[in-house]
Amino acid sequence: MAYGKNVKEILYGGDYNPEQWPQEIWQEDMRMMKKAHINMVTLNVFSWASLQPNEDTYCFERLDKIMELVRENGLKVCMATATGAHPAWMAKRHPDILRTDADGTKRSFGGRHNSCPNSPTYRLYAPRLAGELAKRYKDYDNIVAWHVSNEFGGECHCENCEKAFREWLKDKYGTIEEVNRCFYTEFWGHTFYDWDEIVLPNLKSEHFIHGDAGERTMFQGISLDYRRFMSDSILNCFRLEYDAIKKEMPDVPITTNLMGFFKDLDYQKWAGEMDFVSWDSYPEPLDSPAAVAMRHDLMRGIKGQQSFVLMEQTPSVTNWHHYNKLKRPGEMRLLSLQAAAHGADAIQFFQIRRGRGACEKYHGAVIDHAGRDDTRVFLEVEALGRELEELKDEFLEGRTPSKTAIVFDWDNWWALEYSAGPSVLMKYLDAVKDYYTAAFEQNVPVDIISVEDDMSPYKVVIAPLLYMTKTGYAQKVNQYVDQGGTFITTYFSGIVDEHDLVIEGGYPGELRNVLGIWVEENDALPEGESNSFVYDGVKYPATMLCDLMHLEGAQEISRYEEDFYRGTPVLTRNHYGSGTAYYVGTRSNEEFYLHFLKNVFQEAGVEPVMNTPKGVEAAVRVNEKGRTLFLLNHGKESSTVVLDRDCWNLVDGKVYRNGDCLELKKKGVVILRS
Ligand code: GLA
Ligand code: ZN
Repeated sequence: MAYGKNVKEILYGGDYNPEQWPQEIWQEDMRMMKKAHINMVTLNVFSWASLQPNEDTYCFERLDKIMELVRENGLKVCMATATGAHPAWMAKRHPDILRTDADGTKRSFGGRHNSCPNSPTYRLYAPRLAGELAKRYKDYDNIVAWHVSNEFGGECHCENCEKAFREWLKDKYGTIEEVNRCFYTEFWGHTFYDWDEIVLPNLKSEHFIHGDAGERTMFQGISLDYRRFMSDSILNCFRLEYDAIKKEMPDVPITTNLMGFFKDLDYQKWAGEMDFVSWDSYPEPLDSPAAVAMRHDLMRGIKGQQSFVLMEQTPSVTNWHHYNKLKRPGEMRLLSLQAAAHGADAIQFFQIRRGRGACEKYHGAVIDHAGRDDTRVFLEVEALGRELEELKDEFLEGRTPSKTAIVFDWDNWWALEYSAGPSVLMKYLDAVKDYYTAAFEQNVPVDIISVEDDMSPYKVVIAPLLYMTKTGYAQKVNQYVDQGGTFITTYFSGIVDEHDLVIEGGYPGELRNVLGIWVEENDALPEGESNSFVYDGVKYPATMLCDLMHLEGAQEISRYEEDFYRGTPVLTRNHYGSGTAYYVGTRSNEEFYLHFLKNVFQEAGVEPVMNTPKGVEAAVRVNEKGRTLFLLNHGKESSTVVLDRDCWNLVDGKVYRNGDCLELKKKGVVILRS
């Protein structure tokens, strides 16, 4: 499992901060955790200041006591390196550790996740602390993993970062001429003659804010490279701590908690440096079940579809959403088991005990301010703990048997949303979600893959809004389709290369051949305006962006019905080799995506896990113990599922026969061996 070979159960627990409490409370915490069937804790996430009062001194006495306490109580430990917030004294004595904002403001001490990734101070003391911790606790065999820092992210615009950026560029491009070419500096006469003329792209230089459109830049090439550089810089900090720990404890896996579709960091690159993926899931009350599932699938996908750890979720409520709505009875269990259904091998909370002060005092916890073990939340945590204990290792390391993949690429995300035009409404995640949701609603499992991943295991590969095609990607698509694959891409794809330079000769650039089309123009419709088309006998809207295209070998499936491009193709299919490539030249509605993918799946021979009533999700994981079927009722009412094979309930042992009906309460979940 994600936590290593020796762990043969579902780990259940979460962030535990005994530092915030007098020791008398610790014993009570142990009792309550045991009662809740909690078997692991994440320790030491924000303790840097107390562990290190100055440059040369480390004080581990309190942590020693905590480590003894949890060991005596049979708890496993995910050990954090405590570097998520640097000490105040360090900021005062070594201000290079403080970040500078995009508008040039040098930060003071405060907040967290606040260290400059190119600060020599940070790069010296963070890995040193990680190494000291590993040295001290290496004989604790209940440490199942290391948790480096916390939710890495953000950016810095200080002089050290600027210098490091120039080095990064030198490494990448070799000559200043190549930089000029790739950044397209002839435009507006930005030609650089010397490396130190290059400044960080930000609000003082190339960036401007454009309302809801987010941050935009006048030069995409440099801004894109700065994103890559920042992601790499922070990844280097992770790696420094990683190496320091490995030296002492080579066999214990190391992770850091990620955040799903988090724009700052190219997690596909990060995952390659992590021993396993863990992540923090905090759905907004209005997130659809598909939106939540899509994040889990991304987190599984970044590390070759291996299982992951749900490092944090709230048992009840957050403090930082606009409206911190309680998770309804059953909702925490439903979301926990949905994570498991999509690849989680451990279910953990932020946090075990609710703090008394500062901004998270109203964040949910297993033990709340009342300190009682009979609260609604505690009882729900306890019930889930009991159930997970029953499940043992039944689905651990189980894989998702997907025949459909959706391509996701961070560079594409950054480039698309840095570009000025054609529409501020164009958002990468929306396009990905359109397709993901349609597959999800049909119980068709999806792997989210990178542009580097192998496409051949999949019958259908969907690359929504693949604006950027990197060198070699089009050939890969050609080969995939040629050998029988079904490829789908959409409006505004194939436009630029990895420097955000337009691929000449007509859109969609290098994908033209496999798609058999030429897109001549893109018409961005303001919100509220639409065109329309008829697909398979049903009329659907064409919104946001309408590509105006010509057929170059493809067949037209649907055509625009209105405006001056009425009668021209909007949806096409091209037979290429033994496969098929579809181009969907506009954005439509949920019903269209459902309808379209249903047909494509049928044609390509992609089967749903099973058919369920609306609102009920069916997902599968397969390991050497067998096939585990999760049925999850996200709907507002109870629902009846007709089983399509013999199976039995992994928790209570109840046996079902093919054709039997299974009643799922509202927010109900059953886990079956099938
Ligand atoms: C994040 C952090 C935690 C805590 C929670 C609150 O995920 O990692 O330290 O702040 O949010 O939701
Ligand atoms: Zn910096």
